[in-house]
Amino acid sequence: MPSEMSNSPQGRDIRSHAHPQTNFRAHEKIGPMIIESGNGVRIRDTDGRTFIDGMAGLWCTALGFSERRLMDAAYRQMQKLPYTQTFAHRVSEPVIDLAETLLQHAPVPMSKVMFQASGSEAVDTAIKLAWYYFAAIGKPEKRKIIGRLRAYHGTTIAAASLTGLANMHNGFALPLPGFLHVSCPDTYRGMRESESEADYSEHLAQELEALILAEGPETIAAFFAEPVMGTGGVVVPPDGYFDAVQRVLRKYDILFVADEVICGFGRTGQYWGSQLFGLQPDMLTCAKGLSSAYFPISALMINDRIYQAVADFTQSFNGFGHGYTYGGHPVGAAVALEALRLYDELDICARVREIAPVLQQGLRALSGSPIVGDVRGVGLMAAVEFVEDKASRRPFAPEANVAGRVADAVKERGVLLRALGQTLVFSPPLVAEKDDIAEIVSAVADSVALVQEQLGR
Ligand SMILES: Cc1ncc(COP(=O)(O)O)c(C=O)c1O
Repeated sequence: MPSEMSNSPQGRDIRSHAHPQTNFRAHEKIGPMIIESGNGVRIRDTDGRTFIDGMAGLWCTALGFSERRLMDAAYRQMQKLPYTQTFAHRVSEPVIDLAETLLQHAPVPMSKVMFQASGSEAVDTAIKLAWYYFAAIGKPEKRKIIGRLRAYHGTTIAAASLTGLANMHNGFALPLPGFLHVSCPDTYRGMRESESEADYSEHLAQELEALILAEGPETIAAFFAEPVMGTGGVVVPPDGYFDAVQRVLRKYDILFVADEVICGFGRTGQYWGSQLFGLQPDMLTCAKGLSSAYFPISALMINDRIYQAVADFTQSFNGFGHGYTYGGHPVGAAVALEALRLYDELDICARVREIAPVLQQGLRALSGSPIVGDVRGVGLMAAVEFVEDKASRRPFAPEANVAGRVADAVKERGVLLRALGQTLVFSPPLVAEKDDIAEIVSAVADSVALVQEQLGR
């Protein structure tokens, strides 16, 4: 640690705090970036530098960093009732209102909402409910869970097992047994040149069916998917993908869970990613935009088929043996209700669809660069994937850290973005103005040109 850091907040952070999703030893050398305040789509660090947050935190601060109405909703609820539980018949009114509002907005008819504090907890709850549901209907052997390579569903033990990213498994001896993964529907890396998108979708559905048959359909409980993969690199599925997948799931009585933790609440230009692709989920998880991240809250919606079977089963045990102290927190519910009101008032989906072309077309204009392999995305989520060789799509060696170098150069230009492997990802607040997005795109264009030049290309 540089000695001048020792008594600084940076030094104290290094001495006292282990950061999630961080290389601890690198952190001891680099120290933290301390964010002090936020205003609109911008955040400011303790060195007085201001940045557009092109990732909306972790894909979550949809309404920006200074939405007064969310703060007031939290403060009002804190003063009235800062906490009550939802175990064993208790509840507060904001939680009832929020459950009703979510059901009204659901992409398909849903029956009930269960609340948690994080996306991972919502995913774990869905996994446990899939197990519980099949036990309830007399098929307890239907327990295996299928996810997809590169999917991200969180880092609790079950959610991490479902996640299809090696860096969430390394060192933990995960995934747990009973968690299986099929291919990522990546048109850039997975689709053959001779194939149409529809052919590729069929071929992915066949892969899923072959896995189900190999494992035994009587052992498979559920399939989980993000409508558009986020952390896996903003992977937009090919035409017909979810139709083909859902046909297979229905054939073998496998539950479909849509993980809308990133896609929900307008990110794709539809209220739910499910609506973009005609998904008919049995359960749906959401978080992040639910409260615009002003309070940790997540939700799981379940359909009536699941609810009715589960409800009968809870009688056999005199209660459903699952739940979290902070699930259905009144302050989180009050904040989320206000966020949902704001999305409706702002007509957030229409707004995203209007602004999205500035991001999507602006980034696609970078396609001519010799180091840009693919540009993809929908709504206000996008990715730029870098390659060493465009013709063969050969990636750079990981040590070249090209996406990371572009992200660093972008930061110098006042924009924060995230490098995930060889890919730079974008998820600005949904309240960004066209000018803000244009500023992000311009910073990226300059930075790509700079790194390209440094690489002698
Ligand atoms: C699709 C998806 N599911 C689940 C999660 C986990 O959410 P959390 O970090 O709140 O546990 C995330 C987080 O990024 C996510 O993107």
